[in-house]
Amino acid sequence: MGKTIKIAFFDTKPYDRLWFEKTAQTGEFGGIVFQFSFFDAKLSRETAPLAAGHDVVCIFVNDHMDSSVTEILADNGVELVVLRCAGYNNVDLEAVWERIHVARVPAYSPHAVAEHAVSLLTTLNRRIHTAYNRTRDGNFALSGLVGRDLHGQTAGVIGTGKIGKIFARIMSGFGMKVLLDDLYPDQAFATEIGAHYVSREELLRNADVISLHCPLTPENRYLINEESLTLVKRSLILINTGRGGLIDTRALVEALKEGRIRGAGLDVYEEEEHYFFEDWSMEPIKDDVLVRLLQFPNVLLTSHQAFLTEEALSEIARVTLGNVASWVRGEKLENEICYQCTRIAEGKTCVREVTGTCWSKANTTELPVCTRSFDPESHRSEDGDEPCNDGVK
Ligand code: NAI
Repeated sequence: MGKTIKIAFFDTKPYDRLWFEKTAQTGEFGGIVFQFSFFDAKLSRETAPLAAGHDVVCIFVNDHMDSSVTEILADNGVELVVLRCAGYNNVDLEAVWERIHVARVPAYSPHAVAEHAVSLLTTLNRRIHTAYNRTRDGNFALSGLVGRDLHGQTAGVIGTGKIGKIFARIMSGFGMKVLLDDLYPDQAFATEIGAHYVSREELLRNADVISLHCPLTPENRYLINEESLTLVKRSLILINTGRGGLIDTRALVEALKEGRIRGAGLDVYEEEEHYFFEDWSMEPIKDDVLVRLLQFPNVLLTSHQAFLTEEALSEIARVTLGNVASWVRGEKLENEICYQCTRIAEGKTCVREVTGTCWSKANTTELPVCTRSFDPESHRSEDGDEPCNDGVK
């Protein structure tokens, strides 16, 4: 019988339970026996005591791991928190430093997100959402459902990392002209699909479709704003599966009200945290901007579901349990994240290369500071440290 590890899951949904239980049975984790406790509650100061008696805590995007939660978990003997997502802006990395190790799933299925972006686009373009409701009501009229051929139109992709590249390839396959924008252009990729890197302004002025696939950083917060929305074509369909904060939603609402763009497909919303992932159908929604967005017939909103495919859920469970297994076996914890990872120390190697983890309770004063480049959804320290190497290929 292998070692038994008790994991407390917070903010659990039925699909989490299904995929984690299924994945734990695969025998992939070298005899470790996982015992899961699934809590519906989000992790907070009030719910953190539920983790007592568990070795590991598993959290998602809306669980808050601040200093008070860290203290409660550490006092209850929790040594590892695993995020079943890529982003970690909900974790206070300074508070957890030298108290609790934190690991995440850096990438799961970029195809899932890119394909969802395409679904939003094609649905809006051909008004499938309207047609679906009409035919169910016995209304077979076509007026108001006129779309446009995507073939021959221009797609603009902002952020050509893992997801943006897949989206760009699909747009190219539709026979669209593809314009690209990234801080670190990949010219070989552009040449391969017959696309072109252009300035942000050129992309905004020429695209009939714009899809956002860059991370939310202080620099690109509201990259779609009042000013940029004055540059775009009236034929524009704007797609956002990146992060809500990339768009100034109030400016978008104004553009939609004035008919200055053709539509918007949004999987993310800047104030999504309170509403997304939950059933609010029997409650009044108090967010007036969200309510206004939902009223536009040419806005399609999904609640951060772009990642939600069987393949992605399976990969999230596999990597998360793999992170736990590495930690249990004392192996290198490849997907650990830490406060020091955001500090760039030229020419030095990562402490993890030596100890296996970002910090260790053993004496580390002689060890170097981490220089690993980081994922774009990066934590940045409040004292103005250099940001991590976002997007460096
Ligand atoms: P990635 O790291 O592979 O690519 C991001 C790209 O954006 C990089 O090439 C980077 O250089 C570029 N970039 C950064 N700042 C930029 C700027 N200001 N202008 C232009 N380009 C910029 O990331 P990946 O995996 O493609 O994910 C992209 C984003 O998708 C994530 O940051 C996340 O916010 C979002 N996402 C959404 C999901 C959903 O379910 N809706 C699921 C997973 C990710």
